[in-house]
Amino acid sequence: MTADRQAEGALRVAVIGIGQRAAIAEHVGASEIAARVVAAVDVTPAGRQRAADQFGADVAVYADLSKLVAAGGIDAAIVTTPDFTHAAIAIELLHAGIAVYLEKPIATTVEDADAVLAAAFETKTPLYVAHNFRHAAVVRLMSEIVRRGDIGEVKSIWVRHFVGNGGDYYFKDWHADRANVTSLLLQKASHDIDIIHMLGGGYTRRVVGMGDLMVYGDVTDRREREGETVNDWFSFDNWPPASQTGLNPVVDVEDLSMMMMTLDNGVQASYQQSHFTPDYWRNYTVIGTEGRLENVGDTAGGVVKVWNRRHEWQVAGDAEYEIEGVTSGHSDADLLTMTEFLAHVANGTPTTLSPVAARESVAAGVLATTSLRSGSVPFDVPPLHPSITQYFASPADAASRSAL
Ligand SMILES: NC(=O)c1ccc[n+]([C@@H]2O[C@H](COP(=O)([O-])OP(=O)(O)OC[C@H]3O[C@@H](n4cnc5c(N)ncnc54)[C@H](O)[C@@H]3O)[C@@H](O)[C@H]2O)c1
Repeated sequence: MTADRQAEGALRVAVIGIGQRAAIAEHVGASEIAARVVAAVDVTPAGRQRAADQFGADVAVYADLSKLVAAGGIDAAIVTTPDFTHAAIAIELLHAGIAVYLEKPIATTVEDADAVLAAAFETKTPLYVAHNFRHAAVVRLMSEIVRRGDIGEVKSIWVRHFVGNGGDYYFKDWHADRANVTSLLLQKASHDIDIIHMLGGGYTRRVVGMGDLMVYGDVTDRREREGETVNDWFSFDNWPPASQTGLNPVVDVEDLSMMMMTLDNGVQASYQQSHFTPDYWRNYTVIGTEGRLENVGDTAGGVVKVWNRRHEWQVAGDAEYEIEGVTSGHSDADLLTMTEFLAHVANGTPTTLSPVAARESVAAGVLATTSLRSGSVPFDVPPLHPSITQYFASPADAASRSAL
């Protein structure tokens, strides 16, 4: 810990990329760990203006990450830039000794994901990948049911992802271009592949993918949206999907994608994603040797049902558990996620998600994308170098990562 930080008693945090997701940095002040946002970086004038509006006039604002690094005095950085920039930004920060909160996905290729992990390994700088869905009330509830053994040993997980806001969220800006995200299967499912790994107790080793661009590719009304964020164009009135206007000039990602995976412990899973449903939520079915669970709704007001007695179909579960937390969005999970990061940096507190898990979800998503674009042939996920796996699993890592 630097002398300055001890004197001030609070972590000095920078935010990189001041778009829609930079709102996560508002939890820095709300978390129980002493920390404050002191600097921001955005490559656009509009982003730099948002930085001043959002974090106050006394926050130092830069157009270039290297200028922030050169100025010094930063303990930790929150990276909320587009996916294709994650790896390079994270690696530069790690080499500067600045602890990194990196938005998911860790990267858009397996090679880049591995390069980020290697940089954290070489520099011993804390790296945290923000899979906030792990902290969602519905996921914590499903995890608790599985951990208690209420459905026996997990054998299969099926996830249906209704991305009802897909047109607004993913087809009107950089997300729609493969060059920026690889695929929406990777972009969006990196959360769910991670949860499948967590609930299934293993990492994906073999994948098969299938998918297509079925609706948004036919929308010809396109334009650049320089300086805008999704908050400027989002509306429930944008319905049905084919009536959407102002899509990104390049739209070449799939709006329907599916993948099947075999985990290293034999668990079999599937994930389906559609960007043109009217409703926006995720439905998990987890099947064990002594029952199955399924969530209906994925925020407060929803329920996780467990069937673990034998009978014909039955709407009511044999047991039902209410989902707690917020009724919409994920601000509760975001606060827990930010608190976990800051506690890890400040005190070396272990985190629920290892960067290795973040890499494994991206690796599965990348290979599933390769499969769906190659006639659905299966692909094996390359294993991570054992020294990296060992580093992130070792107590020495936790100790060194706390010694900022
Ligand atoms: N975990 C979640 O729930 C969640 C939710 C939304 C977004 N995200 C993630 O957050 C990231 C950002 O998404 P968004 O919706 O805020 O995007 P956005 O387009 O609204 O904002 C990105 C910002 O980064 C800036 N930027 C681009 N390149 C930069 C660079 N090299 N250096 C500095 N600034 C740069 C842009 O000017 C823009 O202001 C994505 O990776 C996305 O996956 C995560």
